Amino acid sequence: MNIVPLKYEDDKLLILDQTKLPNETVWLNLETLEDVWEAIYSLRVRGAPAIGVAAAYGVYVCVRDSDAKDFDSFYKEFKEKSDYLNSSRPTAVNLSWALARMEKCVLANKDKPIDEIKSALLKKAHLIRQEDEYSCRMLGEHGLSLLKPGMGILTHCNAGALATAKYGTALSPLYLGNERGYNFKVFANETRPLLQGARLTAWELSQAGIDVTLICDNMASIVMQNGWIDAVLVGCDRMTSKGHGANKIGTSGLAILAKEYGIPFYMFVPTSTIDFDAKEMSDIPIEERKGEEIYSLWYEKEMAPKGIKTYNPAFDVTDAKYITAIITEKGIIYPPFEENLKELKDRLK
Ligand code: MRU
Repeated sequence: MNIVPLKYEDDKLLILDQTKLPNETVWLNLETLEDVWEAIYSLRVRGAPAIGVAAAYGVYVCVRDSDAKDFDSFYKEFKEKSDYLNSSRPTAVNLSWALARMEKCVLANKDKPIDEIKSALLKKAHLIRQEDEYSCRMLGEHGLSLLKPGMGILTHCNAGALATAKYGTALSPLYLGNERGYNFKVFANETRPLLQGARLTAWELSQAGIDVTLICDNMASIVMQNGWIDAVLVGCDRMTSKGHGANKIGTSGLAILAKEYGIPFYMFVPTSTIDFDAKEMSDIPIEERKGEEIYSLWYEKEMAPKGIKTYNPAFDVTDAKYITAIITEKGIIYPPFEENLKELKDRLK
């Protein structure tokens, strides 16, 4: 499993442009604030953990050539750039989480020369990337303990290597299982409107030689009814302290279906994706995107009457009551989620 969505090499922040996959492999060098903001906004780099890692390196790249001579002017410049990057997408909490860690690093090195603050920032970005890689590996180990060889798995969106530093969240156990001969039969929802399932998940899994079948989102019920699905595995963009989890639009419907069919629904949530300040489902901001994504992006001609009204939320929130277990790098959390997440929070201190 060698797919990574970004790398920092020879002083360059390189991202694999995910809007071009699976047909083209294009690496972009992000050099300016606008480059980084646009790459996140346009989903060239996407998936909650990968957005966090990209923002950490991105904010470093944007201040590394700063000619600020004193701490106050450096911090002011850092803060302005960081706030701007933080405005690129609202739902995945990893973005603000990673930028807050970078800011803490600036403040912790306040008394050092500006060049040393810059070096500390680069080190911190490397650390955020390495920690994510480790977390994803652990999510894989914990997740795999819930699965058996030969199982049918349904997944939504892309919670794979492309969405993280490496391995993925919900797809990590599938990679580990594949190495250990589990022979999973994976069904990937195409994930309208941006087709992360078709373009990214189906691509990633087939590259690894995993048996993957692509279905349209509205086929989830029939594959469950057919008895082909033993578990639903999905990622998360922001989880509240009560265990409600935002993920790609369509996830909450899948969770409700899974409950109806008695299929376990597992949400893979690195602790970097838990927003302990959010409690209720309505505390999570939901990104709304342009209607063109629905009626024209993938078509030669517009596939709706001119001037049609659209509603295009990019995420929905799955009520905790539909989640069988939350898989974190620290272990598997079962209901009651509020109590058990509180215990996890205390352990993280
Ligand atoms: O809009 P995207 O493609 O960034 O949405 C990504 C998802 O919803 C993923 O499922 C989520 O980030 C979890 S991934 C590790």
